[in-house]
Amino acid sequence: MTKPKVFITRRLPDEVVNPYREHLDIEMWPREEEPVGRQVFIERAQSSHGLMTMLTEDVDEQILSQSNNLSIVANMAVGYDNVDVKTAERLNIAVTNTPDVLTETTADLTFGLLMATARKMIEASQYIKDNKWENWSPLMLAGTDIHGKTIGIVGMGRIGEAVAKRAKGFGMNVLYYNRSRKPEAEETFGASYTDFEVLLEQADYVVCLTPLTDETKHMFNKDAFHRMKKDAFFINASRGATVDEEALYEAIIKKKIAGAGLDVFEQEPISSEHPLLSCPEVVCLPHIGSSTKETRYKMMRLSLDNLVHHFQGKPLITPVTS
Ligand code: DGY
Repeated sequence: MTKPKVFITRRLPDEVVNPYREHLDIEMWPREEEPVGRQVFIERAQSSHGLMTMLTEDVDEQILSQSNNLSIVANMAVGYDNVDVKTAERLNIAVTNTPDVLTETTADLTFGLLMATARKMIEASQYIKDNKWENWSPLMLAGTDIHGKTIGIVGMGRIGEAVAKRAKGFGMNVLYYNRSRKPEAEETFGASYTDFEVLLEQADYVVCLTPLTDETKHMFNKDAFHRMKKDAFFINASRGATVDEEALYEAIIKKKIAGAGLDVFEQEPISSEHPLLSCPEVVCLPHIGSSTKETRYKMMRLSLDNLVHHFQGKPLITPVTS
């Protein structure tokens, strides 16, 4: 029996992929650090039955409508704003993502980013490496407390709840804003539901964990940053396009907010010339929220398991709908 042809848009470790070759005829883009070029992606999509994609690929109408054999796209991320799910549904192409397996890892990074930003950890490390540490002084690299402060979580999904759990452990007061109320989070973490505007006005740390949709695009704009407290921090670990980066930059240089911790950017990779990167109050990371070896391996295997299930006619493990 011929195996379904699957194209993986990035080189993944053989120890993960090889066991799946029993069920799938797998071809991989040969490079780990460089995304597949658009033309090659179009060609491979056209000759494949299944795709395993990364968030670097635009799985748009062109790809989906020109690929007559394609019946599934397994996106190796919890976010799937890079996939045109509506068109996929219209063309009867299944889409899957990788929720749950990355929840705790991403929450660790998000809370770590909050701490690094508030306590100037990256700046402090650089201070020593630059040989600037000559003396102890009372206010040397003095940061901002985390315990006893208010965190405002925008997007109380699985990762939001896992961040709320950490915040509670750190003695923080938890506010959240979400499309719907989360009674469980309210009970378990003492989280209080607020309007978006109230959250912005009251939180010491505004943490964005909402998926990118038409409604959330640029929801953190000039008005949002102006509502925040002058000594509050903005943390983003969801998608860069939820933020108007120009407005964020303005808010930081005009001291409307105290700083930002960013794991995601509107354009990735962000240019090293981007004005935001010149601000000492900004801690930036290259989209590593779920990047531990353990979790990335789980995400790879979940995507491949979805592909196998699909071609064996079994229910998908983590399907996505529009
Ligand atoms: C996701 O899964 O959506 C993250 O942004 C990348 O791991």
